[in-house]
Amino acid sequence: MKRSYICPSMMCADMFCLGEAVKALEKCGVDYLHIDIMDGVFVQNYTLGTDYIKNLHSFTDIPLDIHLMITDPSDKLERFDIKENDLVSVHFEASNDISKCLDYINSKGAGAILAINPKTPCDVVIPYLDKIKGVLVMTVNPGYAGQKLVEGSLEKIKEMRHLLDGAGYENVFIEVDGNVSFENGVLMKKAGADMFVAGSSSVFTKQMMLNEAYSRFKDYVK
Ligand code: DX5
Ligand code: ZN
Repeated sequence: MKRSYICPSMMCADMFCLGEAVKALEKCGVDYLHIDIMDGVFVQNYTLGTDYIKNLHSFTDIPLDIHLMITDPSDKLERFDIKENDLVSVHFEASNDISKCLDYINSKGAGAILAINPKTPCDVVIPYLDKIKGVLVMTVNPGYAGQKLVEGSLEKIKEMRHLLDGAGYENVFIEVDGNVSFENGVLMKKAGADMFVAGSSSVFTKQMMLNEAYSRFKDYVK
């Protein structure tokens, strides 16, 4: 059984207690902090930005999983403080030059991920398999936390795993993002997901303390 990676989604954290949340997540030993960057164009929302990433890097050693929901990222990647060991995803639908983006991310020593929206077919990733560490299968339409899983998402994860394995890329991981609840996490893992973006429906649920929610989620998807 492959190891699962858990990435708490920081847009879902209580912004008034951010430092405490990060310290609690350090204690939990989380793998990455998931950072949603939105530009109001690729998606109709604005969330975290370049300064947030810079400040987080100086506050914690937890590597970041930077999810860029921005148009034409190849012109903008240099504005982001990307560190070695971070992961950075660019959207297939948003990119003017995907190869250039992936090359840039790899040149920083970070891991490149290609993200696809729920309506985008799995096979668009094929030309880029040599340049990526993972694919990000969006399981809601990007833009907002707290949405319901898009129908067909579990089948899509299975299809993506089948495609990657069939092409000889068993090592390329599948990240899932959107309504990754405790229960959905189990089903997503079964379908072939390796990396779980844990937001308002799991690690940041209002029903329990952060460390309790994290260890419960870990038990569900391990
Ligand atoms: C959606 C964001 C997610 C979001 C997931 O556009 O990319 O990271 O925070 O969290 P929940 O669990 O609220 O769907
Ligand atoms: Zn995200």
